[in-house]
Amino acid sequence: MINQDRLWNRLMELGSIGKQASGGITRLSFSEEERAAKRKVASYMEEAGLTVYEDAVGNLIGRREGRNQDAPVVLVGSHVDSVYNGGNFDGPLGVLSGIEILHTMNEQEIVTEHPIEVVAFTDEEGARFSFGMIGSRGIAGTLVRDQLQNKDQQGITIAEAMSEAGYDPSAIGQAARPKGTVKAYVELHIEQGKILEKRNASVGVVTGIAGPLWLKFVIKGEAGHAGTTPMNDRNDALVAAAGIIQLIEEEAAKTGSTVGTVGQLQLYPGGINIIPGKVEFTLDLRDIDEAVRDKVEQRIVTGAERLCEQRSVRLKTEVLQRVAPAPCSSVIQEKAKEACVKLGLEPISLPSGAGHDGMQLTELCPMGMLFIRSKDGISHNPAEWSSKEDCADGANVLYDTVLQLATKE
Ligand code: GLV
Ligand code: MN
Ligand code: MN
Repeated sequence: MINQDRLWNRLMELGSIGKQASGGITRLSFSEEERAAKRKVASYMEEAGLTVYEDAVGNLIGRREGRNQDAPVVLVGSHVDSVYNGGNFDGPLGVLSGIEILHTMNEQEIVTEHPIEVVAFTDEEGARFSFGMIGSRGIAGTLVRDQLQNKDQQGITIAEAMSEAGYDPSAIGQAARPKGTVKAYVELHIEQGKILEKRNASVGVVTGIAGPLWLKFVIKGEAGHAGTTPMNDRNDALVAAAGIIQLIEEEAAKTGSTVGTVGQLQLYPGGINIIPGKVEFTLDLRDIDEAVRDKVEQRIVTGAERLCEQRSVRLKTEVLQRVAPAPCSSVIQEKAKEACVKLGLEPISLPSGAGHDGMQLTELCPMGMLFIRSKDGISHNPAEWSSKEDCADGANVLYDTVLQLATKE
């Protein structure tokens, strides 16, 4: 069994980095806060007896050798970057429990056939550049130079932020793991929903991950005087945007499974007495079924075009990222369920609504995920919470699952 106090104490200690006055955590990628979090995580990896290194996209990795150094590696991990004003468990739990299981293996002098590496992936959340899973794309070999042109709110590109932090954007290809060198990837994460809580269960085994499609809408109307322009003679970009946002809610709700969120919206020029001449907003659209999601996207875009035509404003849409939903490996699901049963836990299966790094790795290796119960299902919020006991249950299931995967078959 893992050391639950050590895991919990590290979770709490790491949670002090990037803490805001509001109580939430902001650790954007390549920021000083994220660097500080990675330095702290590197120190835990060293205490656990791991060989610590960083790859070309800034993934922080701790390696434990197996009996056969050349055997494909088993990867575990998650991320330590956060959303704006996020919680303390989304990401850190998976990184710290990965370190914890390897620390325990070292203390118990367990020898595995396969080497095991724990990874703290660079920028899973996509909060800074509206483009995420940078580290896992790097390992999968699918990260391309063009994608490094995505900008943050200050106009800094990913490539510039990488250079500033000491990485060479032209070397990202070096992070790619050749096919056949990774045996499996497993991640422990908080559920960020209410299924486990409703089932009164601490741990669940994930069946698949819904795919996030991120779009940007730009609507151009005409700015004008709020006092002198009659209501029937306006090209108000915001009123058109409001209609589209309502349409998004209606179309997503119709399916019963799709979720659509407008999380960013800017008005230009943004004056109290000026009709908005331009509006930009983002859409995050997800479903576990790609065809259903893409049909909803089509209906939204067609409806938005019609609405903008009626209002005599211009519409431009841009895809920021289109990630396919990812099924979890049935072999890993079976091993994880076996681990649950060994620990006296009911093996509950559930899907993931949130995106995770594992979805970038499906072409490289079998991928699996474990969830633990989230209090009230709250996440991406300072109130995000999972109990010490549930964290320990999740880490123990991860421990057994990884031991099975790292054993000679
Ligand atoms: C990450 O948490 C995401 O699902 O957007
Ligand atoms: Mn996460
Ligand atoms: Mn998240």
